[in-house]
Amino acid sequence: MNMSLSLPYRLRQVRAYSATSQDIAPTLCADAQHRLTEPMAHQFRILPKGDQRHLVAVYQRLLNETDDDDTITAGLIHDVGKACAKCRITLMDRGFHVILSRIAKGPYRAFATRETAPGWCRGLHRLANHAERGALAAEQAGYNDRVIYLIRCHERGGDPSDTQLALLRRIDDEVWRS
Ligand SMILES: [Fe+2]
Ligand SMILES: [Fe+2]
Repeated sequence: MNMSLSLPYRLRQVRAYSATSQDIAPTLCADAQHRLTEPMAHQFRILPKGDQRHLVAVYQRLLNETDDDDTITAGLIHDVGKACAKCRITLMDRGFHVILSRIAKGPYRAFATRETAPGWCRGLHRLANHAERGALAAEQAGYNDRVIYLIRCHERGGDPSDTQLALLRRIDDEVWRS
């Protein structure tokens, strides 16, 4: 995520997410289905529908921007760490995630690395550590090291000269904005 974007802008994105987040799952084309291993297809389908639609939109944009298969696959599943069968990510969680990741970076990262969180903030905890959880889910679901790396670093970290990682981040932001 491009942290140079303003906080009000980010909060407007959250509001836009809620406005478009009706219960409509996206249709996956044959190519997208082919990129989901069986365990990953399960993870994908337990994501909130709005997140599923975001991932499909990022995937479709990447198809037009790169021939790099790993980046396209990572685009399709980069937020899969938000999938949670036992917790619900609320709109308030999404708003707090935006605010805390900007104004309390260090403590918020420490919160993200906690193994568990109390029930009342489980949704926020899931958002805080979704990149790492997504990377672990991809590892368990049989994806290669490059896809796992792109997922792990899609919001921060990684090699600054990695053009494919930069592309994934740019498209992720642009889809949020659209
Ligand atoms: Fe993300
Ligand atoms: Fe995303």
